[in-house]
Amino acid sequence: MQLLLNNKKCIVTGASQGLGKAIAILLAAEQCDLVLVARRKKPLEEVKKFIQKKYNCNVATLSIDVTSKNADTKIKDFALKQLGTIDVLINSAGGSRPTTWDAPESFWEEGMSLNFTALRKLTTKIIPIMTKNKWGRVINITGSVEPREVNVANAAKSAVHAWAKGLSRVVAANGITINSISPGRLNTEQILKRRHPNIKERKKFIKENIPVGYFGDPEDLACLAVFLSSPIARYITGELIHVDGGMKRFAH
Ligand SMILES: NC(=O)c1ccc[n+]([C@@H]2O[C@H](COP(=O)([O-])OP(=O)(O)OC[C@H]3O[C@@H](n4cnc5c(N)ncnc54)[C@H](OP(=O)(O)O)[C@@H]3O)[C@@H](O)[C@H]2O)c1
Repeated sequence: MQLLLNNKKCIVTGASQGLGKAIAILLAAEQCDLVLVARRKKPLEEVKKFIQKKYNCNVATLSIDVTSKNADTKIKDFALKQLGTIDVLINSAGGSRPTTWDAPESFWEEGMSLNFTALRKLTTKIIPIMTKNKWGRVINITGSVEPREVNVANAAKSAVHAWAKGLSRVVAANGITINSISPGRLNTEQILKRRHPNIKERKKFIKENIPVGYFGDPEDLACLAVFLSSPIARYITGELIHVDGGMKRFAH
């Protein structure tokens, strides 16, 4: 199957590690040109170096907090300067925020800002470029639709699902698709170091929750993100697709 992605211009947020990094590497393998976004310069530069050594594509990095003032405009302007246009936006910057039911407002605001508002604002800045091109792909990396506890990220990611569905209908006739991918438990730092640092607890969680019997690798999700970014996925939009080894219990 040919993905026909050659020379597509892509922004990947959260590209310094984890799922964003894996998606960036697979997009590079398809000869896409990339702008990689995250806060930490050093790991971003390492991803850039790795990609440049292996693949023949243009890569630039932008070290920025996606929740900071005017980050949306700064990312758009930088990407236009580096790439000339923007075809694909991968929104992967984010993070889990488990908390108590009575967490302070500042905690809720930070979690909602990171996991919903920042990606909504950035997408809003990029849509006019895609509209002009009559082509575009937006992929949001979201999270569980089955909360087990209070987690700001769950509420924020659900907001992304609802917003993305509405947006997908409005922009569809301009050749733009908007999709969300919900990871279950994939082997990234946030899962291995923060959510499940204890190996005994990890094994118990897998036994009780994940039918395939193991945590996935970032590439298990990245290949879907790259497919959805491609021209051949033109008829899939407004979807939420789970990559979770069967963890989600309900049919819908
Ligand atoms: N892995 C999973 O199984 C899983 C499960 C559920 C949901 N998710 C979601 O999937 C996405 C990727 O997760 P991951 O597992 O790859 O997490 P990760 O390993 O913690 O990576 C998160 C990425 O986001 C960037 N980031 C975080 N805050 C940022 C900010 N304020 N501004 C700019 N960049 C920021 C981080 O880079 P810097 O630290 O350099 O800024 C990093 O590149 C997240 O939205 C997460 O909530 C993942």
